[in-house]
Amino acid sequence: MLTLAPVHDADSEPLPVTAGCLLDFPDDPIVCMRRLQRQHGSIAALEQDGQRLHFVFSPELNHQILTNTAVYHSRFFAVRGPRQSAQRRLTSGLLSANGADHKRQRRMVMEAFLKKAIHGYLPMIRDLTEEMLQSWQIGQTRDLSRDMTDFMLRLTSSLLFGMDNPELAYRIGRMIDQWVQLNHELGISVFVSSPEMTLRYEELLHFAGELETEIAGMIAQQRQSGAGEQNLLSMILQGHDEQGSLSPDELVGQAALIFGAAHLTTAHTLTWALFLLAQHPETLTAVQHELRYHLDGRFPTLDAVEPLKQMEAAIKESMRVLPASAYSQRMTVEPTQLGPLHLPRGSAVVFSQFMTHHLPDLYPQPERYLPERWSGISPSPYAYLPFGAGPRMCLGAPLAMAILKTVIPTILQRFQLSVVPGTDVTAKVISTMLSPVGPLWMDIRAPGSIAASQPVTGNIATLVDLPGQARPLRRAA
Ligand code: HEM
Repeated sequence: MLTLAPVHDADSEPLPVTAGCLLDFPDDPIVCMRRLQRQHGSIAALEQDGQRLHFVFSPELNHQILTNTAVYHSRFFAVRGPRQSAQRRLTSGLLSANGADHKRQRRMVMEAFLKKAIHGYLPMIRDLTEEMLQSWQIGQTRDLSRDMTDFMLRLTSSLLFGMDNPELAYRIGRMIDQWVQLNHELGISVFVSSPEMTLRYEELLHFAGELETEIAGMIAQQRQSGAGEQNLLSMILQGHDEQGSLSPDELVGQAALIFGAAHLTTAHTLTWALFLLAQHPETLTAVQHELRYHLDGRFPTLDAVEPLKQMEAAIKESMRVLPASAYSQRMTVEPTQLGPLHLPRGSAVVFSQFMTHHLPDLYPQPERYLPERWSGISPSPYAYLPFGAGPRMCLGAPLAMAILKTVIPTILQRFQLSVVPGTDVTAKVISTMLSPVGPLWMDIRAPGSIAASQPVTGNIATLVDLPGQARPLRRAA
């Protein structure tokens, strides 16, 4: 539990520091950050035994952290493994690179994420959407979260490794998911050390070895088959700059990181967007009307989604109110001053999409899902940052938006989704992602059926206001 013991600096000025238990943060990041923000405002630190975890919540401070890349480094993976180990190579991709190395790696893979390349991925997105929807039938009750996660597993595996050998691609995809999960569980060992963690560390190193062998095999296959079908890996294999191309070790790291960065973030975004639409029948009806008018039942091209303004606002608003990436962190590589706080080298600083997106000065009635607000606002990149901001902004953002803007309309043209009354909708931040915990049950109805919001249980009402749902006391959340 957090305590309220104030901490003072040398001049006895109270600092925005709360003495408490550092494990409160990984335990429930949103509850912990809300408390710190209520206590201190836009900058805060949580301190235990002389160790501090720092937090920034405002656009100005996000800007400071995200643009000063010489001081604030990204250290996505806490567990790097010994030099020359598979774990070290797998964690050496973009998310962990900094400075000139980061710029170089970004340049090398950039081409695979440009608009031209995304056009080439659309047939794959369309075919896998069709394949998923063929198994959906009117009258069924389906777990939307599971469906979106499975769909993104298939899509990310195929986008990255191609469709030539789907079973192998899915197997590697599942392994990468498991590896990312293990990394995050072990990342917590930064806060606690125990014999159980040591065992899991060994498990992680072993698993990294197996995963590396699989990915290296897949890369060798792609090299042999030459240009062939268009996928992310084949594009990255062709990528180079005046200094050459990525080394085989770097390629393995990029493949693992890109998969890890793409899969669950997009799956959760799809789930939250469809859930919020189902719970806001007026918005849903307006979006469906727009789809009927512009698309007439088709899977859209990127040009065809341009006029879909209501749908774009609905997606933007769901990524504001329930951002799949709830927070990220940086590590200082030299001593620095952040507002009133002195940060020694090696300090961790958390910035949070969730917290910034819920600031009432930026977004009045922040807990309400109001897509119409987007017709009157144009927040800065540091005030609205579902994909991060600055030099390390998500490389896959245009691809993720292409997936969201084509898959959501295709689903909504075929089916009416309605949340099963009484479903437990509990959201938890797992591995920095705001994820639905447990099944999110949806009734699959015929298109044109009457849309209605349904009562649900779970903690979702502490994060977003839902029509007809009692407003919980967020202070107690
Ligand atoms: C809705 C889906 C997605 C969300 C919400 C999301 C969110 C983010 C965020 C917040 C960051 C920045 C993290 C930081 O600054 O610490 C990031 C980075 C990144 N994302 Fe995404 N992402 C999504 C989809 C994707 C996809 C589909 C791909 C690739 C296919 C991808 C690849 C990457 C990469 C490579 C980076 C690292 C960029 C760098 O460090 O230079 N993401 N993403």
